[in-house]
Amino acid sequence: MVTQLNGWGNEMKAAGVRQFGGAIELLDLPAQRPPQAGEVVVAMRAAGVGNWDELVRTGTWDTGIQPPMALGVEAAGVVTAVGGDVSGLDVGALVAAHSVPVRDQGCWAESFIAAAGQVAPVPPGVTADKAAAATIPALTADQAMVDALHVQAGQTVLVHGAGGVTGGMLVQHAASCGARVIATAGAGSADRVRAMGATTIVDYHQPDWPERVRALTGGVDAAVNAIPDGAAEAAASVRDGGRLATITGDPPHPGRGITVTTVTVIPNGPRLTHLLMLLAAGTFTIEVAARYPLEEAAAALERARHGMGGAAVVLTP
Ligand SMILES: NC(=O)c1ccc[n+]([C@@H]2O[C@H](COP(=O)([O-])OP(=O)(O)OC[C@H]3O[C@@H](n4cnc5c(N)ncnc54)[C@H](OP(=O)(O)O)[C@@H]3O)[C@@H](O)[C@H]2O)c1
Repeated sequence: MVTQLNGWGNEMKAAGVRQFGGAIELLDLPAQRPPQAGEVVVAMRAAGVGNWDELVRTGTWDTGIQPPMALGVEAAGVVTAVGGDVSGLDVGALVAAHSVPVRDQGCWAESFIAAAGQVAPVPPGVTADKAAAATIPALTADQAMVDALHVQAGQTVLVHGAGGVTGGMLVQHAASCGARVIATAGAGSADRVRAMGATTIVDYHQPDWPERVRALTGGVDAAVNAIPDGAAEAAASVRDGGRLATITGDPPHPGRGITVTTVTVIPNGPRLTHLLMLLAAGTFTIEVAARYPLEEAAAALERARHGMGGAAVVLTP
């Protein structure tokens, strides 16, 4: 049985592409179908915009759908219909989701369909903007620190690229695990990254920064790389037998007994639920610096791709 808030319209506005690599434009797409078992329909309130959306636009990240298609892989909104076999998600609830493979259309749209197991309730005190923007960074940080690096309290962890949105979440997650966090950041980001829990900031503009980290720490127990082509440098700061995770898909072969893991964010509703509670509790913070309407999605992605000083960009319907 389907529980539903509104009737099914004929069309919805969405921001997406007519072909992979094409310009992002406002599309009129068929309105969402009723949810199948295990699905919910969500009226989008805010959708995250990140570097990864460029990978979806160009077809480099296959999210399971073909153009013409709405982009967008993280969003928050209000549940408008619930399919069968779904428990704990009610019509009217504010939820967030990173749901792939994408059902029908991405979430840069007036509404989207998500797999119920990939959806999390947004706790009181967390805005739709922040929930949307935190979804992929928080899941990625969780999977890097817990699944790939097995970070334990008292260990020393390097975050390479801590000045970014995901980079900042990696710092906060490592600090919340009780690790001593060493972070690479530019001078303009140093204070912000320190406030997120890094004990030591190393300026990545100094070419010998990995040696500096080794001199400071004797080699970190674990490192996570968040910079394209930065994994080999990050590996140079890891102790023999340590661990490296890279979230930019360029795994090096450092030897010295270092374990290397490539992390690609995986949807997970229960873990997102926990991470959003940490956001509500103030353990994690995220700043949303810019909101754009769907009509300006191309400009929003351009802005996100060029970095916003560690702050996030969202789209609104
Ligand atoms: N695998 C996955 O599932 C996954 C998930 C999320 C993100 N990602 C990827 O991870 C990367 C980082 O994401 P993000 O959200 O943090 O990006 P972002 O917000 O765009 O990060 C930009 C920041 O990176 C810093 N930076 C630039 N070049 C640097 C360098 N050479 N060394 C150290 N820091 C440098 C700058 O900070 P300063 O102010 O310090 O200069 C800049 O502000 C992106 O490529 C993204 O696509 C992958």
